[in-house]
Amino acid sequence: MAKVWSKRFDNSLNPFIEKFNASIEFDRKLILEDLDCSIAHAKMLGKTKVLSSSESLKIINGLKKIKADYLEGNFSPSLPSEDIHYCIEEKLISLIGETGKKLHTGRSRNDQVGTDIRLWLRKEIDSLDILIIDLQKSLLNLAESNIYTLIPGYTHMQRAQPLSLAHHLLAYLEMFQRDRERLKEVRSRVNVSPLGAAALAGTKIKIDRNFTAAELGFEKIYKNSIDAVSDRDFCIEFVSASALAMSHLSKISEEIILWVTDEFSFARLTDKCATGSSLMPQKKNPDVPELIRGKTGRVYGHLHALLTMVKGIPLAYNKDFQEDKEPIFDTAETISSCIRAMTILINEGIEINIENLSDSVENDFSNATDLADYLVGKDVPFRTAYQVVGEIVKYCLERKILFKNLKIEEFKKFHPEFEEDVFVDLEPSNVVRSRTSEGGTGFTQVEKEVNNWQKKLLL
Ligand code: ARG
Repeated sequence: MAKVWSKRFDNSLNPFIEKFNASIEFDRKLILEDLDCSIAHAKMLGKTKVLSSSESLKIINGLKKIKADYLEGNFSPSLPSEDIHYCIEEKLISLIGETGKKLHTGRSRNDQVGTDIRLWLRKEIDSLDILIIDLQKSLLNLAESNIYTLIPGYTHMQRAQPLSLAHHLLAYLEMFQRDRERLKEVRSRVNVSPLGAAALAGTKIKIDRNFTAAELGFEKIYKNSIDAVSDRDFCIEFVSASALAMSHLSKISEEIILWVTDEFSFARLTDKCATGSSLMPQKKNPDVPELIRGKTGRVYGHLHALLTMVKGIPLAYNKDFQEDKEPIFDTAETISSCIRAMTILINEGIEINIENLSDSVENDFSNATDLADYLVGKDVPFRTAYQVVGEIVKYCLERKILFKNLKIEEFKKFHPEFEEDVFVDLEPSNVVRSRTSEGGTGFTQVEKEVNNWQKKLLL
Protein backbone atom coordinates (compact mmCIF):
# COMPACT_ATOMS: atom_id res chain seq x y z
CA MET A 1 0.00 0.00 0.00
CA ALA A 2 1.40 3.41 -0.97
CA LYS A 3 2.11 5.66 1.99
CA VAL A 4 0.29 8.98 2.32
CA TRP A 5 3.67 10.64 2.06
CA SER A 6 5.11 8.40 -0.70
CA LYS A 7 5.18 11.22 -3.31
CA ARG A 8 7.97 12.92 -1.39
CA PHE A 9 10.15 9.80 -1.34
CA ASP A 10 12.01 7.97 -4.09
CA ASN A 11 12.13 4.58 -2.47
CA SER A 12 9.72 2.54 -0.44
CA LEU A 13 10.26 1.63 3.17
CA ASN A 14 12.29 -1.42 4.16
CA PRO A 15 9.63 -4.04 5.02
CA PHE A 16 11.05 -4.67 8.48
CA ILE A 17 11.21 -0.94 9.24
CA GLU A 18 7.67 -0.58 7.98
CA LYS A 19 6.52 -2.98 10.66
CA PHE A 20 8.88 -1.52 13.23
CA ASN A 21 7.39 1.91 12.65
CA ALA A 22 3.78 0.80 12.73
CA SER A 23 1.52 1.07 15.77
CA ILE A 24 -1.68 -0.33 14.27
CA GLU A 25 -1.31 -3.63 16.13
CA PHE A 26 -1.94 -1.83 19.41
CA ASP A 27 -3.42 1.58 18.64
CA ARG A 28 -6.40 0.00 16.92
CA LYS A 29 -7.77 -0.04 20.44
CA LEU A 30 -8.42 3.67 19.85
CA ILE A 31 -10.66 3.10 16.85
CA LEU A 32 -13.90 4.41 18.40
CA GLU A 33 -12.16 7.43 19.89
CA ASP A 34 -10.44 8.14 16.57
CA LEU A 35 -13.77 7.99 14.74
CA ASP A 36 -15.44 10.28 17.29
CA CYS A 37 -12.54 12.69 17.04
CA SER A 38 -12.81 12.75 13.26
CA ILE A 39 -16.58 13.14 13.29
CA ALA A 40 -16.25 16.16 15.60
CA HIS A 41 -13.51 17.60 13.38
CA ALA A 42 -15.55 17.12 10.19
CA LYS A 43 -18.60 18.70 11.83
CA MET A 44 -16.51 21.67 12.85
CA LEU A 45 -15.06 22.06 9.33
CA GLY A 46 -18.64 22.18 8.02
CA LYS A 47 -19.72 24.68 10.63
CA THR A 48 -16.80 27.04 9.95
CA LYS A 49 -17.42 26.62 6.20
CA VAL A 50 -13.95 25.28 5.54
CA LEU A 51 -15.88 22.42 3.95
CA SER A 52 -19.30 22.72 2.34
CA SER A 53 -22.07 21.24 4.41
CA SER A 54 -22.54 18.41 1.93
CA GLU A 55 -18.83 17.56 2.08
CA SER A 56 -18.91 17.62 5.86
CA LEU A 57 -22.01 15.43 5.90
CA LYS A 58 -20.54 12.97 3.42
CA ILE A 59 -17.45 12.58 5.60
CA ILE A 60 -19.49 12.21 8.78
CA ASN A 61 -21.70 9.57 7.19
CA GLY A 62 -18.65 7.75 5.88
CA LEU A 63 -17.12 7.73 9.35
CA LYS A 64 -20.40 6.53 10.87
CA LYS A 65 -20.50 3.70 8.34
CA ILE A 66 -16.97 2.67 9.35
CA LYS A 67 -18.07 2.71 12.99
CA ALA A 68 -21.10 0.53 12.25
CA ASP A 69 -19.01 -1.88 10.17
CA TYR A 70 -16.48 -2.14 12.98
CA LEU A 71 -19.12 -2.71 15.65
CA GLU A 72 -20.75 -5.39 13.53
CA GLY A 73 -17.41 -7.13 13.10
CA ASN A 74 -17.08 -6.31 9.40
CA PHE A 75 -14.01 -4.13 9.65
CA SER A 76 -10.82 -4.81 11.55
CA PRO A 77 -7.96 -2.34 11.33
CA SER A 78 -4.61 -3.98 10.58
CA LEU A 79 -1.36 -3.76 8.64
CA PRO A 80 -0.36 -2.52 6.14
CA SER A 81 -2.00 0.62 7.58
CA GLU A 82 0.66 2.28 9.72
CA ASP A 83 -1.61 3.37 12.52
CA ILE A 84 -5.28 3.75 13.38
CA HIS A 85 -5.37 7.34 12.11
CA TYR A 86 -4.11 6.50 8.61
CA CYS A 87 -6.19 3.35 8.62
CA ILE A 88 -9.45 5.26 9.11
CA GLU A 89 -8.48 7.93 6.60
CA GLU A 90 -7.63 5.27 4.00
CA LYS A 91 -10.86 3.45 4.67
CA LEU A 92 -12.86 6.67 4.40
CA ILE A 93 -11.29 7.54 1.05
CA SER A 94 -12.00 4.06 -0.25
CA LEU A 95 -15.61 4.44 0.88
CA ILE A 96 -16.51 7.98 -0.22
CA GLY A 97 -13.74 8.89 -2.67
CA GLU A 98 -12.10 12.31 -3.13
CA THR A 99 -14.10 14.08 -0.41
CA GLY A 100 -12.50 11.78 2.13
CA LYS A 101 -9.18 13.43 1.36
CA LYS A 102 -10.50 16.64 2.91
CA LEU A 103 -10.92 15.20 6.42
CA HIS A 104 -7.37 15.93 7.51
CA THR A 105 -7.70 19.66 6.74
CA GLY A 106 -6.41 21.79 9.59
CA ARG A 107 -5.18 19.00 11.82
CA SER A 108 -2.24 16.66 12.27
CA ARG A 109 -1.91 13.18 13.63
CA ASN A 110 -0.10 14.82 16.53
CA ASP A 111 -3.15 16.59 17.90
CA GLN A 112 -5.34 13.72 16.70
CA VAL A 113 -3.51 11.02 18.65
CA GLY A 114 -3.42 13.26 21.72
CA THR A 115 -7.18 13.67 21.47
CA ASP A 116 -7.76 9.95 20.99
CA ILE A 117 -5.77 8.83 24.00
CA ARG A 118 -7.42 11.45 26.19
CA LEU A 119 -10.88 10.28 25.13
CA TRP A 120 -9.89 6.68 25.76
CA LEU A 121 -8.32 7.38 29.15
CA ARG A 122 -11.29 9.45 30.29
CA LYS A 123 -13.60 6.52 29.57
CA GLU A 124 -11.26 4.10 31.34
CA ILE A 125 -11.02 6.33 34.42
CA ASP A 126 -14.82 6.49 34.59
CA SER A 127 -15.19 2.74 34.49
CA LEU A 128 -12.38 2.30 37.00
CA ASP A 129 -14.23 4.52 39.44
CA ILE A 130 -17.27 2.25 39.25
CA LEU A 131 -15.09 -0.82 39.78
CA ILE A 132 -13.42 0.72 42.83
CA ILE A 133 -16.81 1.61 44.33
CA ASP A 134 -17.86 -2.04 43.89
CA LEU A 135 -14.75 -3.16 45.71
CA GLN A 136 -15.35 -0.66 48.49
CA LYS A 137 -18.92 -1.93 48.84
CA SER A 138 -17.76 -5.55 49.21
CA LEU A 139 -15.23 -4.56 51.86
CA LEU A 140 -17.87 -2.51 53.63
CA ASN A 141 -20.27 -5.46 53.65
CA LEU A 142 -17.63 -7.62 55.26
CA ALA A 143 -16.81 -4.84 57.72
CA GLU A 144 -20.45 -4.36 58.65
CA SER A 145 -20.80 -7.96 59.79
CA ASN A 146 -17.48 -7.91 61.64
CA ILE A 147 -17.56 -4.82 63.82
CA TYR A 148 -17.24 -6.99 66.94
CA THR A 149 -14.88 -9.56 65.43
CA LEU A 150 -11.46 -9.09 66.94
CA ILE A 151 -8.22 -9.44 65.02
CA PRO A 152 -4.65 -8.99 66.22
CA GLY A 153 -3.20 -5.74 64.95
CA TYR A 154 0.46 -5.83 63.96
CA THR A 155 3.37 -3.45 63.71
CA HIS A 156 6.65 -4.84 62.37
CA MET A 157 4.60 -8.01 61.82
CA GLN A 158 4.66 -8.47 65.60
CA ARG A 159 1.46 -8.58 67.63
CA ALA A 160 0.72 -5.00 68.68
CA GLN A 161 -2.84 -4.32 69.85
CA PRO A 162 -6.17 -6.02 69.13
CA LEU A 163 -8.48 -4.40 66.60
CA SER A 164 -12.00 -4.62 65.36
CA LEU A 165 -11.80 -6.51 62.04
CA ALA A 166 -14.14 -3.90 60.58
CA HIS A 167 -11.67 -1.17 61.52
CA HIS A 168 -8.92 -3.07 59.73
CA LEU A 169 -11.09 -3.43 56.61
CA LEU A 170 -12.20 0.21 56.69
CA ALA A 171 -8.54 1.20 56.42
CA TYR A 172 -8.66 -0.24 52.89
CA LEU A 173 -11.80 1.73 52.09
CA GLU A 174 -9.86 4.88 52.94
CA MET A 175 -6.97 3.86 50.67
CA PHE A 176 -9.28 3.06 47.78
CA GLN A 177 -11.10 6.35 48.34
CA ARG A 178 -7.82 8.20 47.93
CA ASP A 179 -7.25 6.21 44.74
CA ARG A 180 -10.61 7.40 43.46
CA GLU A 181 -9.80 10.98 44.37
CA ARG A 182 -6.44 10.79 42.64
CA LEU A 183 -7.98 9.34 39.49
CA LYS A 184 -10.63 12.04 39.53
CA GLU A 185 -7.93 14.66 39.68
CA VAL A 186 -6.04 12.98 36.85
CA ARG A 187 -9.30 12.97 34.87
CA SER A 188 -9.51 16.74 35.13
CA ARG A 189 -6.14 17.02 33.40
CA VAL A 190 -7.02 14.32 30.87
CA ASN A 191 -10.18 16.20 29.97
CA VAL A 192 -8.47 19.00 28.03
CA SER A 193 -8.59 19.17 24.24
CA PRO A 194 -5.37 19.38 22.20
CA LEU A 195 -7.35 19.17 18.94
CA GLY A 196 -6.56 22.05 16.62
CA ALA A 197 -2.99 22.42 17.85
CA ALA A 198 -2.23 20.71 14.52
CA ALA A 199 1.40 19.59 14.12
CA LEU A 200 2.70 21.99 16.79
CA ALA A 201 2.04 25.57 15.75
CA GLY A 202 -1.71 25.80 15.19
CA THR A 203 -3.14 26.33 11.72
CA LYS A 204 -4.18 29.06 9.30
CA ILE A 205 -7.32 27.08 8.45
CA LYS A 206 -10.37 28.61 10.12
CA ILE A 207 -11.04 26.05 12.80
CA ASP A 208 -13.07 26.32 16.00
CA ARG A 209 -11.27 24.53 18.79
CA ASN A 210 -13.93 25.22 21.37
CA PHE A 211 -16.53 23.62 19.13
CA THR A 212 -14.65 20.34 18.78
CA ALA A 213 -13.80 20.40 22.49
CA ALA A 214 -17.48 20.77 23.39
CA GLU A 215 -18.50 18.07 20.89
CA LEU A 216 -16.10 15.64 22.52
CA GLY A 217 -17.06 16.60 26.05
CA PHE A 218 -13.74 18.22 26.94
CA GLU A 219 -13.84 20.75 29.74
CA LYS A 220 -11.37 23.15 28.14
CA ILE A 221 -8.69 23.44 25.49
CA TYR A 222 -4.90 23.58 25.73
CA LYS A 223 -3.71 27.18 25.67
CA ASN A 224 -0.42 26.46 23.97
CA SER A 225 -0.27 24.41 20.77
CA ILE A 226 3.29 23.18 21.42
CA ASP A 227 2.39 22.01 24.91
CA ALA A 228 -0.82 20.46 23.56
CA VAL A 229 1.02 18.01 21.29
CA SER A 230 3.92 17.35 23.69
CA ASP A 231 2.13 16.81 26.96
CA ARG A 232 2.15 13.24 28.20
CA ASP A 233 2.00 14.19 31.89
CA PHE A 234 -1.55 12.91 32.07
CA CYS A 235 -0.46 9.42 30.94
CA ILE A 236 2.19 9.34 33.64
CA GLU A 237 -0.24 10.64 36.23
CA PHE A 238 -2.73 7.94 35.29
CA VAL A 239 -0.16 5.18 35.59
CA SER A 240 1.18 6.69 38.80
CA ALA A 241 -2.28 6.80 40.40
CA SER A 242 -2.82 3.23 39.18
CA ALA A 243 0.53 2.11 40.59
CA LEU A 244 -0.48 3.40 44.02
CA ALA A 245 -3.85 1.68 43.74
CA MET A 246 -2.02 -1.52 42.80
CA SER A 247 0.12 -1.16 45.92
CA HIS A 248 -3.09 -1.12 47.97
CA LEU A 249 -4.42 -4.16 46.13
CA SER A 250 -1.10 -5.87 46.69
CA LYS A 251 -1.16 -5.06 50.40
CA ILE A 252 -4.61 -6.58 50.93
CA SER A 253 -3.59 -9.54 48.76
CA GLU A 254 -0.58 -10.20 50.95
CA GLU A 255 -2.75 -10.06 54.07
CA ILE A 256 -5.25 -12.51 52.62
CA ILE A 257 -2.41 -14.85 51.60
CA LEU A 258 -1.20 -14.77 55.22
CA TRP A 259 -4.68 -15.09 56.70
CA VAL A 260 -5.42 -18.32 54.82
CA THR A 261 -2.20 -20.06 55.85
CA ASP A 262 -2.43 -22.86 58.43
CA GLU A 263 -0.18 -20.74 60.63
CA PHE A 264 -2.57 -17.77 60.75
CA SER A 265 -5.90 -19.46 59.97
CA PHE A 266 -7.75 -16.14 60.19
CA ALA A 267 -9.72 -17.03 57.05
CA ARG A 268 -10.33 -19.91 54.63
CA LEU A 269 -10.46 -19.92 50.87
CA THR A 270 -13.71 -21.09 49.36
CA ASP A 271 -13.62 -23.16 46.19
CA LYS A 272 -14.69 -20.13 44.14
CA CYS A 273 -11.27 -18.50 44.03
CA ALA A 274 -8.80 -21.21 44.99
CA THR A 275 -6.87 -23.69 42.93
CA GLY A 276 -5.33 -27.07 43.67
CA SER A 277 -1.81 -28.32 43.19
CA SER A 278 -0.82 -30.67 40.37
CA LEU A 279 1.19 -32.76 42.81
CA MET A 280 0.14 -32.22 46.42
CA PRO A 281 -3.42 -33.41 46.93
CA GLN A 282 -3.96 -31.48 50.16
CA LYS A 283 -3.23 -28.03 48.69
CA LYS A 284 -5.61 -25.14 48.19
CA ASN A 285 -3.71 -22.21 46.77
CA PRO A 286 -4.51 -18.49 46.95
CA ASP A 287 -3.71 -17.88 43.26
CA VAL A 288 -5.97 -14.83 42.98
CA PRO A 289 -4.26 -12.61 45.57
CA GLU A 290 -0.88 -13.94 44.46
CA LEU A 291 -1.58 -12.91 40.88
CA ILE A 292 -2.74 -9.47 41.96
CA ARG A 293 0.41 -9.07 44.06
CA GLY A 294 2.48 -10.25 41.10
CA LYS A 295 0.79 -7.98 38.56
CA THR A 296 1.60 -4.93 40.67
CA GLY A 297 5.13 -5.06 39.29
CA ARG A 298 3.87 -4.64 35.73
CA VAL A 299 2.17 -1.37 36.54
CA TYR A 300 5.23 -0.09 38.43
CA GLY A 301 7.23 -1.05 35.34
CA HIS A 302 4.93 0.93 33.07
CA LEU A 303 5.39 3.99 35.27
CA HIS A 304 9.13 3.66 34.97
CA ALA A 305 8.88 3.16 31.21
CA LEU A 306 6.79 6.29 30.72
CA LEU A 307 8.93 8.48 32.95
CA THR A 308 11.99 7.32 31.05
CA MET A 309 10.26 7.85 27.72
CA VAL A 310 9.63 11.56 28.35
CA LYS A 311 13.00 12.27 29.94
CA GLY A 312 14.96 14.75 27.87
CA ILE A 313 12.52 14.78 24.95
CA PRO A 314 12.78 18.17 23.23
CA LEU A 315 9.63 19.98 22.16
CA ALA A 316 7.40 19.13 20.38
CA TYR A 317 6.07 15.76 19.10
CA ASN A 318 8.66 13.00 18.82
CA LYS A 319 7.99 9.46 17.72
CA ASP A 320 9.00 8.26 21.17
CA PHE A 321 5.45 9.21 22.13
CA GLN A 322 4.09 6.26 20.19
CA GLU A 323 5.48 4.25 23.13
CA ASP A 324 2.93 5.84 25.48
CA LYS A 325 0.13 3.56 24.38
CA GLU A 326 1.05 0.04 25.42
CA PRO A 327 1.90 1.07 29.00
CA ILE A 328 -1.40 2.91 29.49
CA PHE A 329 -3.41 0.19 27.76
CA ASP A 330 -1.85 -2.55 29.86
CA THR A 331 -2.11 -0.49 33.05
CA ALA A 332 -5.83 0.06 32.54
CA GLU A 333 -6.41 -3.58 31.72
CA THR A 334 -4.30 -4.86 34.61
CA ILE A 335 -5.79 -2.64 37.26
CA SER A 336 -9.38 -3.20 36.23
CA SER A 337 -9.00 -6.96 36.13
CA CYS A 338 -7.24 -6.92 39.52
CA ILE A 339 -9.98 -4.79 41.11
CA ARG A 340 -12.62 -7.12 39.71
CA ALA A 341 -10.80 -10.21 40.92
CA MET A 342 -10.33 -8.70 44.39
CA THR A 343 -14.04 -7.83 44.58
CA ILE A 344 -14.98 -11.41 43.74
CA LEU A 345 -12.42 -12.70 46.25
CA ILE A 346 -13.90 -10.54 49.02
CA ASN A 347 -17.50 -11.37 48.06
CA GLU A 348 -17.23 -15.10 47.65
CA GLY A 349 -13.64 -16.24 47.81
CA ILE A 350 -12.89 -16.06 51.53
CA GLU A 351 -14.63 -16.88 54.78
CA ILE A 352 -13.45 -15.38 58.06
CA ASN A 353 -12.58 -17.85 60.85
CA ILE A 354 -14.26 -15.79 63.54
CA GLU A 355 -13.50 -18.18 66.44
CA ASN A 356 -9.86 -18.49 65.52
CA LEU A 357 -9.57 -14.73 65.37
CA SER A 358 -11.15 -14.28 68.78
CA ASP A 359 -8.99 -17.01 70.31
CA SER A 360 -5.87 -15.49 68.84
CA VAL A 361 -6.24 -12.22 70.74
CA GLU A 362 -7.01 -14.06 73.98
CA ASN A 363 -3.58 -15.61 74.17
CA ASP A 364 -1.02 -12.91 73.72
CA PHE A 365 0.36 -9.76 75.33
CA SER A 366 -1.39 -7.36 72.97
CA ASN A 367 -3.20 -5.89 75.99
CA ALA A 368 0.10 -4.71 77.51
CA THR A 369 -0.52 -1.06 76.57
CA ASP A 370 -3.83 -1.29 78.42
CA LEU A 371 -2.12 -2.57 81.52
CA ALA A 372 0.13 0.48 81.41
CA ASP A 373 -2.84 2.77 80.68
CA TYR A 374 -4.58 1.26 83.73
CA LEU A 375 -1.80 2.65 85.92
CA VAL A 376 -1.87 5.95 84.00
CA GLY A 377 -5.54 6.10 85.05
CA LYS A 378 -4.25 5.95 88.65
CA ASP A 379 -1.98 8.90 88.01
CA VAL A 380 1.19 6.85 87.52
CA PRO A 381 3.37 8.62 84.88
CA PHE A 382 3.20 6.72 81.58
CA ARG A 383 6.94 6.00 81.37
CA THR A 384 6.93 4.49 84.88
CA ALA A 385 3.83 2.44 84.08
CA TYR A 386 5.43 1.28 80.82
CA GLN A 387 8.51 0.01 82.71
CA VAL A 388 6.40 -1.74 85.35
CA VAL A 389 4.49 -3.57 82.62
CA GLY A 390 7.77 -4.48 80.89
CA GLU A 391 8.78 -6.26 84.10
CA ILE A 392 5.43 -8.02 84.31
CA VAL A 393 5.78 -9.24 80.69
CA LYS A 394 9.21 -10.67 81.52
CA TYR A 395 7.83 -12.32 84.68
CA CYS A 396 4.99 -13.93 82.69
CA LEU A 397 7.26 -15.08 79.85
CA GLU A 398 9.56 -16.82 82.32
CA ARG A 399 6.57 -18.68 83.75
CA LYS A 400 4.90 -19.22 80.33
CA ILE A 401 1.69 -17.52 81.48
CA LEU A 402 -0.39 -14.53 80.41
CA PHE A 403 -1.46 -11.40 82.35
CA LYS A 404 -4.86 -12.92 83.00
CA ASN A 405 -3.25 -15.89 84.77
CA LEU A 406 -1.61 -13.65 87.38
CA LYS A 407 -3.12 -13.24 90.82
CA ILE A 408 -3.90 -9.75 92.05
CA GLU A 409 -1.26 -10.16 94.77
CA GLU A 410 1.35 -10.76 92.09
CA PHE A 411 0.23 -7.62 90.24
CA LYS A 412 0.48 -5.64 93.45
CA LYS A 413 4.09 -6.72 93.90
CA PHE A 414 4.86 -4.79 90.71
CA HIS A 415 2.74 -1.76 91.64
CA PRO A 416 0.45 -1.11 94.62
CA GLU A 417 -2.15 0.69 92.49
CA PHE A 418 -3.30 -2.55 90.80
CA GLU A 419 -6.80 -3.64 91.92
CA GLU A 420 -9.20 -6.47 90.94
CA ASP A 421 -10.77 -4.35 88.17
CA VAL A 422 -7.53 -4.61 86.18
CA PHE A 423 -8.78 -7.97 84.86
CA VAL A 424 -11.77 -6.22 83.25
CA ASP A 425 -9.47 -3.82 81.42
CA LEU A 426 -7.39 -6.73 80.13
CA GLU A 427 -10.31 -8.42 78.33
CA PRO A 428 -9.55 -8.09 74.58
CA SER A 429 -13.04 -6.86 73.69
CA ASN A 430 -12.77 -4.22 76.45
CA VAL A 431 -9.35 -3.30 75.16
CA VAL A 432 -10.84 -2.61 71.73
CA ARG A 433 -13.98 -0.95 73.14
CA SER A 434 -11.89 1.48 75.15
CA ARG A 435 -10.08 2.96 72.12
CA THR A 436 -12.62 5.75 71.86
CA SER A 437 -10.36 8.41 70.38
CA GLU A 438 -11.55 9.71 67.01
CA GLY A 439 -10.46 7.41 64.21
CA GLY A 440 -9.63 4.67 66.73
CA THR A 441 -10.81 1.07 66.80
CA GLY A 442 -13.38 1.49 69.60
CA PHE A 443 -16.64 -0.21 68.59
CA THR A 444 -18.71 2.99 68.71
CA GLN A 445 -16.16 4.75 66.51
CA VAL A 446 -16.21 1.87 64.06
CA GLU A 447 -20.03 1.75 64.00
CA LYS A 448 -20.03 5.45 63.22
CA GLU A 449 -17.55 4.97 60.40
CA VAL A 450 -19.48 2.05 58.93
CA ASN A 451 -22.54 4.34 58.85
CA ASN A 452 -20.56 7.15 57.24
CA TRP A 453 -19.32 4.81 54.54
CA GLN A 454 -22.80 3.51 53.88
CA LYS A 455 -23.95 7.06 53.25
CA LYS A 456 -20.89 7.90 51.20
CA LEU A 457 -21.27 4.85 48.95
CA LEU A 458 -25.07 5.14 48.96
CA LEU A 459 -25.73 1.49 49.73
N1 ARG B 1 1.17 6.58 15.63
C1 ARG B 1 1.63 7.87 16.06
C2 ARG B 1 1.70 7.85 17.61
O1 ARG B 1 1.11 7.00 18.18
C3 ARG B 1 0.69 8.92 15.61
C4 ARG B 1 1.29 10.28 15.56
C5 ARG B 1 2.31 10.34 14.48
N2 ARG B 1 2.82 11.64 14.27
C6 ARG B 1 3.93 11.87 13.56
N3 ARG B 1 4.33 13.09 13.48
N4 ARG B 1 4.64 10.88 13.06
O2 ARG B 1 2.33 8.67 18.22
